[in-house]
Formats: sequence, C-alpha cells, structure tokens
Amino acid sequence: MCGIVGCIGQENSVSFLLEGLEKLEYRGYDSAGIAVHGGSGIKIYKASGKLENLKTLLNGNSGKYRLNAGIGHIRWATHGVPNETNAHPHSSSENTVSIVHNGIIENYKELKKELAEKGFNFSSQTDTEVIAHLIEDSLKPGQAPGDAVRNALKKVDGAYALGAIFKQDPQTLYAARKSAPLILGLGENRNFIASDVPAILEHTKRVIYLEDNEIAEIKSSSYKITDINGDILEKKVETLPWEPVSVSKMGYKHFMLKEIHEQPDVIRQTLFDKLKNSDEPLNLREVKLTKKQLEDLDRVQVIACGTSLHAALVGKYLIEEFTGIPVDVEASSEYIYKRTIVSKNSITIGVSQSGETADTLTAIKQAKDKNSHVLVVTNRPDSTMAREADSLLPVNAGFEVSVAATKSFSAQLMAFYLLAIYLAEVKKSLPGTTIEEYKKELIQLPQKIEMILSNKEKIHDCAVKFHNTRNFIYIARGINFPTALEGALKLKEISYINATGYPAGELKHGPIAMLDETIPVLSILVPGKVYEKVLSNSEESKARNANMIAVTSEEDEHLEQIFDFIIKIPHTDEIFSPILTTIPLQLLAYYIAEFLGKDIDQPRNLAKSVTVE
Ligand code: F6R
Repeated sequence: MCGIVGCIGQENSVSFLLEGLEKLEYRGYDSAGIAVHGGSGIKIYKASGKLENLKTLLNGNSGKYRLNAGIGHIRWATHGVPNETNAHPHSSSENTVSIVHNGIIENYKELKKELAEKGFNFSSQTDTEVIAHLIEDSLKPGQAPGDAVRNALKKVDGAYALGAIFKQDPQTLYAARKSAPLILGLGENRNFIASDVPAILEHTKRVIYLEDNEIAEIKSSSYKITDINGDILEKKVETLPWEPVSVSKMGYKHFMLKEIHEQPDVIRQTLFDKLKNSDEPLNLREVKLTKKQLEDLDRVQVIACGTSLHAALVGKYLIEEFTGIPVDVEASSEYIYKRTIVSKNSITIGVSQSGETADTLTAIKQAKDKNSHVLVVTNRPDSTMAREADSLLPVNAGFEVSVAATKSFSAQLMAFYLLAIYLAEVKKSLPGTTIEEYKKELIQLPQKIEMILSNKEKIHDCAVKFHNTRNFIYIARGINFPTALEGALKLKEISYINATGYPAGELKHGPIAMLDETIPVLSILVPGKVYEKVLSNSEESKARNANMIAVTSEEDEHLEQIFDFIIKIPHTDEIFSPILTTIPLQLLAYYIAEFLGKDIDQPRNLAKSVTVE
C-alpha cells in the first residue's frame, strides 16, 4: 500500500528511484513521483497513472542528478483522488522539505486546521501534505532538520513510513517509521531506504529494519538512528537471504503465471527440512510451544485477511479433523473491533503472506496484549508480524510479486497441513499409521501439481467459452468450500467478473434463484465424504440450465451427463485435495483475465500489501 524508495550517494539517483519504484509497483500504481536534490534546490517530478507515465516524463533526465539525496513514491490513494496533484512527493510552502509517505495520518484534519491558521497553504487533498508543512513549521532558524522531523512527528497520530529531503541539506536523507514498514539498505558509499526488500536487493543485502518511532538520518557513508526524542539507538545490521533473480518474470508473460508454475517447488521448499521421510517425526522447530503447552492446547483462534483467510479456513478444517481442538477463524478487520477473548490454553495464529497487513498486525498485537501465544504463518520472516510473533511457521514461497496471491496460498495450506499433523503427533490424536500415510501423501503432492500444470488445455478451453460471462458461481462442501471462495476471489480480482463461492448446500437457500443459462456453476467434487452431496447440488444447478464445470479426480461416467466441462486433477485423499483443486481455479482466472486483456499482475484498485486498516 504505497511504496517508498530513497537514496543518497547513488551515482544516478533518478535511475535508482525509477527502478526501485518498479520493484514496488505491487504496492500501488495509481500515480508516482520522485524528488531529487539538484544541488541548488529540490526538483519534483510526478505523473498520475502507472509508473510508465513518470518514466516517460523523465525520459532523458536521468543523468542529471548525481550523488545528492532523492526520494520516490508509488501511490495507492487513501486521501484524495489519484491525480498528479495528490501524487507524492509533497512539499512545504517554502519548498524547504519534500516528503514521501506510506500510511494514514489520523489527526490530519486538526493539524491542517492549525497549520492553515498559521498561514500554510495546502495544494492537495492528501493527509501527507500536512507532515511537510508541520516539518517546515518545526524547522526553526539554526535548528537541525533531524530535530524538525522528530518534533513534527511527535504531533502526528497514525501510521507512517516516511522519506524526506531538505533544501538546506542535499547530503542527507531522512526516514522515519511508525506502523508501516521501512528498511534502511547499506551500500558502499551509498545508502538507501525502501518499503520492501525488492527495491534495493540488486544494490545491497545489508539492511537495518527500522522499528516504530525510529528516525534515521542517512548520509552516503554513515547513518544515525534515534528514537523520537533524539536519543541514539544501536541497531543490528542484518543480511538478506534472497537473490535479485527471485523478483524476475523468468520468461513468463506475467508474474502470476510464473508464480502459479512455481507451486510444486514452493511446496517442496516448505516441506524441506520439516518432513524428510514419512516415518520420521515432523520438525517444526520454529513453533516455540513446549510439549506440555501443545498437549494442553484446547482452542485455536486464527486471524487473517483475503486469500490468507481462505487458507486459515482450510487450516480450521484440518486442525479440527486431526486433533478435535476447536478452531475459530475470523477476518482480522472484524476481530480487532470485538472484545479480545483469550483462554488459558489457547493460541492465536496470524496468517499473512506479506506479514505487514495492518488489520492482521493490529489483531495479533491485541492477542499478545492479552497474553496469548501468537504463532505467525508468513512468507516473510523479515516482516513486522514475524518480529511481533512468539513463534513462526515460515512458508518459503519466495517473493510473490503478482497482486493476486497464488503460491503463497499453497504454501500457507502446506504450513497448516504440517501444523495439524504436528499437533496430532504430539496429542496422539491420530493413529501412527494414518499420520505416516498422510506424510507420504504430502511428499507426493508437488508431483501431482506438476501433472495439472502440464495438462492445461481443458482449463484453457473453459476460459475461451466463459470469458464473456458476467457472473460465476463456485460451489463445494467441506474442506473444499474455502477453495471455492479462493477460486471466486481470484476470478473477481483479476478479471472483475462477479464470482461468488458458496457451500454447495446453501445454493437452494437463495442463490439458486439467480441460475439460468447465463451463469456458469463450477463444482469442486472429489471422492470422499461430500462427493455425492456436491453431485446432487450440481444436478440441481444443471436442472436450472446453468452451464456446468467440474473440477474433479473422479472417473464417474455420470459426470459427463451433468457437466459441460470436466477439469481432471490427479487423485488424492479428500483431505489433501485443496492443494490440487486450487491450481485449475488459479489458471482459469488467469486465462479468463488474459482473454479479457486485463492488467493481470496489477489489477485495478488493489495493492499487494495492505498497510492501512
Ligand atoms: C488476494 C490477495 C489478498 C491478500 C490479503 C491479505 O489475492 O492477495 O486478498 O490475501 O490482502 O494479505 P496478506 O496475506 O499479505 O496479509
């Protein structure tokens, strides 16, 4: 949700800023801008729309700005429409300071009123502009810019990751953080700031994670980090474990297609070192609960948003089925406005690809405040959530760039399979032979996904037939109900087609009224407890003339009479089927969006990392 970059001491600051913003485009893409110090003053360039427009504007200008401080921003609008005026950077009235900001200033209306009364003029509708004026107002004669930043931020309520440059101080880049991610990258005679790692990974692997209420004053070969009162802090320099290649498309047309195809390896990675052989106990060393705590565990609360929430719903099914422990799953945005109920032997699990989603972060902090053990399932062990957690279940999906989550979902599912089996092992709630069979099947799953990925024709044909449809319904029961929700979410997100997932049994309690020949119904039906029931619900839909699509592993001739399209997946136990059924649904959404010519990796109105509540 908005991306920030900044540099000092960089040979060609404009190129660095543009390349960095390109790597952060997943965080927002409705306008972009940069501010660079030209020696005598700050120059600002902004463009509404995609980053491409800013690049066109700057064409030929990139060599002009060398070594001085620069900041850049890619926006996902919160306050004010996405136009050039509201694009960042924003400057103070006298152009003494320019800033880029990610987050929301909650008391901006009060601050704006006070500043207007003092004579400050506002040119944008943003909350961010308030900070620029506030810093200028705090910059008294003879005072250091760092003090002005600290004094201004003391008056601000809300969330911010901030980059600032001052007219009077071309050799320093200022940065601050509160409840929004920001890292400091350390290079050779050049230093950087960024909202996320991909923006700087090509330049350095040495980073410092800024914490809340920390302010950095960064020069090309040194830096100083203080708290809000100016007291100097000693910070740990960490080394990033990733390679720049992990954020390239590797020949695929879109990141989403690449990430869909990475899923077999992602699952192998997630299993690696946790489950080597089916006859060995699982090794979840990151889960820091004692054997006794695990044995006594009697309730689990899971909180997440979006796709991660769907993974959590599968997790609920697994933990309840394998251990008998009741599991509540709640959208983080709902959880945080209710009374936080934590019982003695319970744990709270936060699930998040980015580890930065504001609602989930607030939710886990609330649970921690009530003394719950917080376990975080995340793809980003370097994220704020991972740092807040008591325990971590890393999901090893690598960077996910496409806004629509795919490989992180599969990896989160795997994390829940591992956790549920681990709990069953400790609590002895499943027979040893069953656990061993389950482990064997987990090891087989990547190969089965590869089979789906090398057999995509039917899914493609289905997309050809239905890409002009305006409404889609996905139905399933039991453990595949969350898969239906996830399949529908994928289609909505990238094709803008209205798609809804229902428990198949709910169809006749209302939604069936919508059915006619214009609405396709996609049924997920794998052999097991609910196969016959989903089949009956599919027949009921067929009887209302709906176009029928099946995702199934069953060799049932009867299916041909009901379904217009049958998408086959390899056989697996029903309990593991979400890992397989989800793949054709991702591909179907992808191909439909591709036929419609949509911007697949950057769908309208969305951003990958939702760092505002
Ligand atoms: C869907 C999608 C979003 C995220 C949601 C939570 O494709 O990407 O629904 O799943 O914003 O994000 P994380 O998992 O980063 O907390």
